[in-house]
Amino acid sequence: SVKAKIGPSILNADLANLAAESQKLLDNGADYLHLDVMDGNFVPNLTFGHPMVKSLRNKIKTAFFETHMMVQNPEQWISPMADAGVNLYTFHIEPVADVCKVSRLVQEAGMKVGLAIKPGTKVEDLEKYISIADVVLVMTVEPGFGGQSFMADMMPKVEWLRQNYPNLDIEVDGGVGPKTIACCAKSGANMIVSGTAVVGATDQRQVIREMRDVVQS
Ligand code: DX5
Ligand code: ZN
Repeated sequence: SVKAKIGPSILNADLANLAAESQKLLDNGADYLHLDVMDGNFVPNLTFGHPMVKSLRNKIKTAFFETHMMVQNPEQWISPMADAGVNLYTFHIEPVADVCKVSRLVQEAGMKVGLAIKPGTKVEDLEKYISIADVVLVMTVEPGFGGQSFMADMMPKVEWLRQNYPNLDIEVDGGVGPKTIACCAKSGANMIVSGTAVVGATDQRQVIREMRDVVQS
């Protein structure tokens, strides 16, 4: 079966100390880093782009980096993000006309492909692309901001994916923490993004371990 992985989102970390914040998360047991890229267009917020990711990569050589591309034109950032050392390039299918083409370009650039859907997007819209995806991301909040409430009514999407694709890497993102992890695990998610619940914890190591144990059991 698929391996449980915990990927903290650094969105609500101290972005002026991003390298130290990221290293701390990795030292405390994070399996990968989830980097939220927003363009102020696909979502009503701005974060950072490939220059920041590249600077982070210069300080953190080996960690697995996922960029969650909440952008209107994900094709535009493939090459700079590959150059910045991104491992998994996850983009939303909603604004993209040719998902297969963009996925192929991501893979040709040497990155894995993640395909993301917003809460309002049906899992059926994703189904035709699953064979080309390395990871699928089911959003459990409306993308744009950290610290929102987990939407348990997204779990049927995860359950459906897990039933039909036993070996698929299924990621959840938004409002996931110690209180909501059991629901995600039971539904079949194995890649767990968690922002404020981990970053703001007094004992990050404990929170990360606790969540991984729930997903693995
Ligand atoms: C939302 C982002 C998420 C989110 C995670 O647009 O994609 O990664 O910030 O943070 P929490 O866990 O606080 O919801
Ligand atoms: Zn995210």
